Amino acid sequence: MSAVTVRVPAKVNLQLAVGPLREDGYHDLVNVFHAVSLFDEVTASEPADGDAGEAPLRVRVEGESAGEVPAGDDNLAVRAARALARWAGRSYRADLLIRKSIPVAGGMAGGSADAAAALVACNELWGLGLPLGDLMEIGADIGSDVPFALLGGTAVGTGRGERLTPLPTSGVFHWVFALAGGGLSTPRVYGECDRLREEAGGPVPRPTASDDLLAALRKGDPHALGRALTNDLQPAALELRPALAATLDAGRVAGALGALVSGSGPTCAFLAESAEHAAALAKSIEVADDCRSAVTASGPVPGASVAG
Ligand code: C5P
Repeated sequence: MSAVTVRVPAKVNLQLAVGPLREDGYHDLVNVFHAVSLFDEVTASEPADGDAGEAPLRVRVEGESAGEVPAGDDNLAVRAARALARWAGRSYRADLLIRKSIPVAGGMAGGSADAAAALVACNELWGLGLPLGDLMEIGADIGSDVPFALLGGTAVGTGRGERLTPLPTSGVFHWVFALAGGGLSTPRVYGECDRLREEAGGPVPRPTASDDLLAALRKGDPHALGRALTNDLQPAALELRPALAATLDAGRVAGALGALVSGSGPTCAFLAESAEHAAALAKSIEVADDCRSAVTASGPVPGASVAG
C-alpha cells in the first residue's frame, strides 16, 4: 500500500464539567463528547524514492485556515506519527497531507482529530496492525481529545478527558455550528476559568455527569438534550470574546433547542429539531457579527476511519 486516506470527525462537548486545577496543570473533567459530521482528511503516503535524506515525516496542510496550522515538527499529526514509530521501535517515513474542514483552534478538537487520523493512516501504511486500544494510549500523550477522535460516537471522558466510556444514544441529532474568525487558545480559556473562579471564591465542586443529559441521549430526545447542554468553560470564553454572547442569542431567538460554546470556543453549537430546522437556523445565526459562517452537521458519527 503506498497511500492511505483517513476521515476524522470534529467533536462538540455536550457537557463539559471542569473540576479544580490539578498539580500537573490539568483539570479533572466530566466531558461528554459527541462526534459530528464535520470532517478533516489525512492522507499518509510513502515518500518518492528520490526524496531519500529528507525529513522522515513531512506535512502539508490544505483548506479551511490552513495557514494557521503549524506545518513543521509541532504539527499534532507529525507528533502522533513520530510517537507511533517510536512505539513500534523502528524508523518510518511518511508524507502527510491534511485537508482541513474543522475550524482551527475552534473548540472542536481539530488538531486532535488530525493526530488521530495520522495514527490510523500510518498504522495502516506501515502495516503495524496495532489495535485501537494501543492507538488510544499513544494518542492520549499527544492531546486529551485524541482518544475520543479515534473512538467517535458519543462517550464520556473522565480524568483529563482521555479515559472514555461509550454512551448509549438513540437516533440522530442535528446541529448548527457558528464558526468565528480566528481561534481561542485552550490553555488561556482554562486559565481564565480558574481566574474567574478565584475571583468568585468558594469551593469548586467535583465534576459529575448530568443524569438528565444521559437520559436525553438514551431516549434520543433533542428537546431534553437542548435543556441539558452545559459548558463550565463558557463564562471564560465569553469573558475573552464578549461578541460570542450575541451569536448565542441569535440562535436562541431563532428557536434553537439549546445553544452553547463548543469546548474552549470560539465555535458556538446549536441543537435543532431536524435537518430542515438546522438549515433554517443556520441562516438566522449567520447574520451575527462574530459569526464568519454557519454550517450544519449531524451526530453521532464514527471516529477516525480509512476512507473509501
Ligand atoms: O491535552 P491538550 O493538549 O489538548 O490540552 C490543552 C490544554 O488545555 C492543556 O495544556 C491545559 O492547559 C488545558 N487542559 C486542562 N485540563 C484538561 C484538558 C486540557 O487544563 N483536562
